[in-house]
Amino acid sequence: MSLRSDYCGTLRAGDAGRRVSLCGWAARRREHGEHLAFVDLRDHTGIVQCVVDGAHDIRSEFVLRVTGTVQPRPEGTANPALPTGEVEVTDCAVEILSAAAPPPFPITDRTEADEVLRLQYRYLDLRRDRMQRNLRLRSRVNAALRSAMEEQGFVEVETPMLVASTPEGARDFIVPSRLHRGSFYALPQSPQLFKQLLMVGGTDRYYQVARCLRDEDLRGNRQFEFMQLDAEMAFADAEDVMASISAAVIGTARAVVAEPEAVPTVVPRMTWHDAMERYGTDKPDVRFGLELVELTDVFAGTEFKAFLAPCVKGLRLPGGGELSRSRLDALTDQAKGWGAKGLVWMRVGEGGLDSPVARFMSDDELKSLSSRLGAEPGDLLLLVADERPVVRHVLGLLRLELGRPPVSEGGLHFLWVTEFPLFEGLDEDGRPIPAHHPFTMPHPEDADGMESDPLSVRSLAYDMVVNGWELGSGSERIHRPEMQQRVFSLLGIGPEEAKARFGFLLEAFRYGAPPHAGFAFGVDRLVAVLAGEESIREVIAFPKTQSGTDPLTGAPTPADGRLLAELGVRVVPPDS
Ligand code: AMO
Ligand code: AMP
Repeated sequence: MSLRSDYCGTLRAGDAGRRVSLCGWAARRREHGEHLAFVDLRDHTGIVQCVVDGAHDIRSEFVLRVTGTVQPRPEGTANPALPTGEVEVTDCAVEILSAAAPPPFPITDRTEADEVLRLQYRYLDLRRDRMQRNLRLRSRVNAALRSAMEEQGFVEVETPMLVASTPEGARDFIVPSRLHRGSFYALPQSPQLFKQLLMVGGTDRYYQVARCLRDEDLRGNRQFEFMQLDAEMAFADAEDVMASISAAVIGTARAVVAEPEAVPTVVPRMTWHDAMERYGTDKPDVRFGLELVELTDVFAGTEFKAFLAPCVKGLRLPGGGELSRSRLDALTDQAKGWGAKGLVWMRVGEGGLDSPVARFMSDDELKSLSSRLGAEPGDLLLLVADERPVVRHVLGLLRLELGRPPVSEGGLHFLWVTEFPLFEGLDEDGRPIPAHHPFTMPHPEDADGMESDPLSVRSLAYDMVVNGWELGSGSERIHRPEMQQRVFSLLGIGPEEAKARFGFLLEAFRYGAPPHAGFAFGVDRLVAVLAGEESIREVIAFPKTQSGTDPLTGAPTPADGRLLAELGVRVVPPDS
């Protein structure tokens, strides 16, 4: 016989008169007269009030089976805040299935315990409604993604976890080999190389919900291990990939959100260059305005020395004229912390601009900058002058500081950012650093200049962004050995090193590589945005803390000495 007939949170007035068996945890007990107590019984669907014999010794989080009759609550005692608030379960027979020690924090969505404590007792934290909702959402997202990919003819292929190093640019987690002492496997930073091999292997359209591991600093929305929806397509270009991924992401979002009609059907595009100029970042949050406005030409011959810079930009905060002097000073300090030499602020009044530096600027300059920015009385204008990357960076961050709504607000704004630069800068030896990975195809219009002016070369790489978060990245790949050689030599990867690191891929490409392109996005991030959570830790059942530990299991822990000896690994104590 089954232990239960119904779930707690599903009972409604229409169930009145039914005899039901419920199982769950005692969320709360309140005395009700001398002989009775109200026990709120909780399972993952919610809470229902049970009226039980007060003699039972039921305490918080005891595991109960309650068999009783659903009744309308007495006149005037309904609880409109609770979906089951019109009913209660009476005449209850209670079976205590498990006793429970007092929990270290109350299990409700109302109180916020310290995160380390929550992670130490994650199994209790997971009993909370919010966490149950997030886990269930995640399961539906995974299912929807899989079916969206399957419908489009993608085949799920599992790639290995013990691999050779992957070139995603993060540090590898490595695993010592017992059978090959002194040699190590790397855990995959992504399935990148295998999925390209699958293309050579005729798989045509591959996908995988893949676990990836990267030993990187856990700032922001990063974990050591995370899930990617990883995909690759043969005989396909960037357009094909963007179409397939857009369909999967939009389809999934529509399948799980409360208001599917509100999810846009088309993912707009923006070039990397436009994103940087208008939003100061390659992951623009387009949910709000406050765009960066070009003012360099306005100050071309200015007397204001600070603004005789390679780039001047500004932004307008509507109504921001009310910000206090101390807030403006704080913003200035923040801007300096981000690398600016200073921050010019101007309050727009009926009669003109109020700013400590207005007197250093000509009337023409003041007029042009006002009209460029569309200044209206009551607004605040913020201006930065510097090298172009500094101006973009600082104003981009100021824009977020002043305007960014919580991730849950303003709907879902997906965006493709295209034409990323091939290289993101130069290393100490003056060699270009790949912006994506070294298999990314240079933009055909720019490839000629790869040797002479590498930093101006665009690539066929694209990112998907949602509400200001980088959701994923992809690119068309290089499939011809000559082009791969050229990129490797630019990166300073000689033939020997190329052979040692990626020899198997280059070798595979000799046997007929189809043109191919792909993409991977962070499932944790997608779920977090869909759940309205700012941190991916809220949508991962057992995440690590910011310092990379697991307070629940105690990982990482020292390894057993015998095991280390077998592996031929000797540990150098941390303080030596
Ligand atoms: P990339 O390195 O940009 O591309 O990763 C793709 C997406 O994976 C997610 N992600 C992470 N999520 C949580 N924690 C992390 N530490 C973390 N690192 C990455 C992000 C990111 O956008 N192989 C290429 C893709 C390709 O070219 O096909 C790749 O892995 O959402
Ligand atoms: P200074 O001439 O350095 O005293 O700066 C005068 C004002 O201009 C101060 O409010 C500074 O914050 C601001 N300022 C100085 N340099 C810059 C810059 N490069 N960009 C924006 N504002 C600046």
